[in-house]
Amino acid sequence: MNIKLSSLQNIKPQLAIVFVSQGGAQKKKVNGATSLAGPASFQDRLSALAEDKFFEGKSSEAYCVRDANLDGFRHVLFVGLGDEKKITLESLRRGAATAYKTAKAHKAASVGLLLPNSWPKGLDAPDAVAAITEGAGLAAYTFDTLKSKKTDGKDEKKDEKKQEFWLLTAGKGNKSLENAVEQANILVESINFARWLGDMPGNKMTPAILADEAAKAAKGTGIKVQVWDKARIKKEGMGGLLGVSLGSAEEPRFIIMEYNGAAASKKPVCFVGKGLTFDSGGISIKPSANMEEMKYDMCGGAAVIGTILALARTKAKVNVLALIASTENMPGPHANKPGDVLTARNGKTIEVNNTDAEGRVILADALSYASEQKPAAIIDAATLTGAMVVALGDLHTGYFTRDKKLNEKIQDAAETAGEWVWPMPLVDEHVDDMKGVYADWNNISPNKGAGSAHGAAFLEQFVDKDIPWAHFDIAGTAWHTGHRIPYNPKKGASGCVIRTFVELAKTF
Ligand code: BES
Ligand code: ZN
Ligand code: ZN
Repeated sequence: MNIKLSSLQNIKPQLAIVFVSQGGAQKKKVNGATSLAGPASFQDRLSALAEDKFFEGKSSEAYCVRDANLDGFRHVLFVGLGDEKKITLESLRRGAATAYKTAKAHKAASVGLLLPNSWPKGLDAPDAVAAITEGAGLAAYTFDTLKSKKTDGKDEKKDEKKQEFWLLTAGKGNKSLENAVEQANILVESINFARWLGDMPGNKMTPAILADEAAKAAKGTGIKVQVWDKARIKKEGMGGLLGVSLGSAEEPRFIIMEYNGAAASKKPVCFVGKGLTFDSGGISIKPSANMEEMKYDMCGGAAVIGTILALARTKAKVNVLALIASTENMPGPHANKPGDVLTARNGKTIEVNNTDAEGRVILADALSYASEQKPAAIIDAATLTGAMVVALGDLHTGYFTRDKKLNEKIQDAAETAGEWVWPMPLVDEHVDDMKGVYADWNNISPNKGAGSAHGAAFLEQFVDKDIPWAHFDIAGTAWHTGHRIPYNPKKGASGCVIRTFVELAKTF
């Protein structure tokens, strides 16, 4: 769904949405519910509702006055943002998600959110409008590619097409707002595309299909795409990626995407993603409960694809390289066995003592290749460890870096993007734990605990020491996060870290 900006002079929606704060100009009135936009008649109705405690403007509260017929608006939907002094861009994202979902349930022909003339303190108008576009656009994502539904489905689609979502300014719009909406729409589309890649099941999103979809999405964006097949992966010395793929009937792929929005002399930022299209665990097979979730094991790869698409389509002035190592991890007759030794692209040898710790083995090759390109920084994203889910849950993405400057950039980027990240420890002792007995490195640690740090310590061995590097373990945040974040799906891929990565890329 594309969210469009216009002026109230041009469009009079059937359903008008207004944000409401608690406090502010109306604070002397009962409960202080203050309408942030719209004619005076809206505030009168709102004050009456607040007096009766039907609606007070608390965050995530919504109240639709059907047939309100106020100033020519047939229906009016009030959406609460909470305490006026605590309104942030995230409040707007969440408010817009509530607005979108409630409006959809009310099936109005045209929907318009009335933008305030002035925003709560500290909020810049273009940022606010971008946040609203993000919240509504992300909330609009649904996955119905694989539903056969006949008439019902078609009707739903028709309704969706009919329903327009406008952001309406009281006066004339301006270029900076239009630009903000356009850029935010592209970001939303890139995130929703990454979610779609994640939500597709393993049989319909194999490594070959993932590569095709990435190439298809890149068409016309200026991104150059190269895809290596199994023979090329072997020839290039990617023994880790090849080794993990051996248990599967599906061929692996190594996807290279390049976008140059800055001078050729400028080093690129390199994003690397784990694209495990299905992780059964291999011979060290996983328990059956929830194993279907392992179709999401390519969400790091999808995040990296979404990031480069967003940057290229918004014509960001950066050079970016996105690398995705993609394979299945299956227990077929040629599968790795515990104890097998593989040789990564940089010549280091790996004892595969647990075939379920496969993400780090395929990333070893991708990080080696990334290092050869001598980028300004390497940032990887991977659903790497169950331990990360235990440590941080599904709100914060844990990341590891030993580079102070990069750490600051990550903190700033996540803050600007409105995502939650948390720094995790990586020290030499974690590296010692990963030393091999029969080969250079062991893919698991003999010491219990700190499983995510051990994964990071292993990955570090494949990154050139002079290149700033960060590893994002998105195992906890990549899916099923909508129970706390209203613009994310309750079930399904979240599209996490793309917003942060887009901001991060712009700092180089
Ligand atoms: N893809 C999994 C990690 C994972 C687990 C992601 C749960 C999301 C939810 C990864 O390949 C894996 O299986 N890691 C093992 C590593 C262990 C064997 C050292 C794990 O976390 O159990
Ligand atoms: Zn695994
Ligand atoms: Zn995995």
